[in-house]
Amino acid sequence: MKKIVAFTGSNHSQSINQKLLNFTVAKVKISDVTMLNLSDYPLPIYSLDIEAKGIPNELLQLKEILVANDAIIIATPEHNGSMPAYLKSVIDWLSRLVPAKSPFFGESSKPVLLMSTSPGPTGGATNIKTMTELMPWWGGDVKGTYSLGSFYEEVVDGKLLPETDQALADIVARFEAQL
Ligand SMILES: Cc1cc2nc3c(=O)[nH]c(=O)nc-3n(C[C@H](O)[C@H](O)[C@H](O)COP(=O)(O)O)c2cc1C
Repeated sequence: MKKIVAFTGSNHSQSINQKLLNFTVAKVKISDVTMLNLSDYPLPIYSLDIEAKGIPNELLQLKEILVANDAIIIATPEHNGSMPAYLKSVIDWLSRLVPAKSPFFGESSKPVLLMSTSPGPTGGATNIKTMTELMPWWGGDVKGTYSLGSFYEEVVDGKLLPETDQALADIVARFEAQL
């Protein structure tokens, strides 16, 4: 059974990307999926000066989890058309561990499902496009993307609208078929 790790690039306590991730993880059928909370591995904003004082233990623990999995699902907010500084800082920290070229996974490139949502209509699609282009550099092979716009209209009584729910199920099934 393939192992998937899922996390959000948001540090918002009421994160809608975390909610999208929860819907997504619930659709995983044939893999073993683990929800990871990046805030359990607190890291300062990346700095060469801080790194010179020593690699944080939390970073080593986080990398170990990522390397131990076969694939990842990321649901990230878009901030000003780009990835949140919070997520970028984590990626920068991960890139400082050997092998530097592959922050997420270590030696090899692994499949990624890259997702985003926002209250606005584009659902963070601008950032997803950029992250898809950057992912090979980070050791990820993007096998699927999904941007859900107008999150608060798409979720009624804590549930996704049926069409969106089905679209998400199809995306997850296609991702799992590629693992
Ligand atoms: C600094 C900042 C910049 C934002 N920029 C964008 C943006 O470029 N595109 C977008 O769709 N939403 C943008 N938003 C709105 C976010 O989509 C919204 O805050 C959303 O709740 C973030 O997801 P989260 O709840 O998972 O953190 C921005 C929000 C903040 C705080």
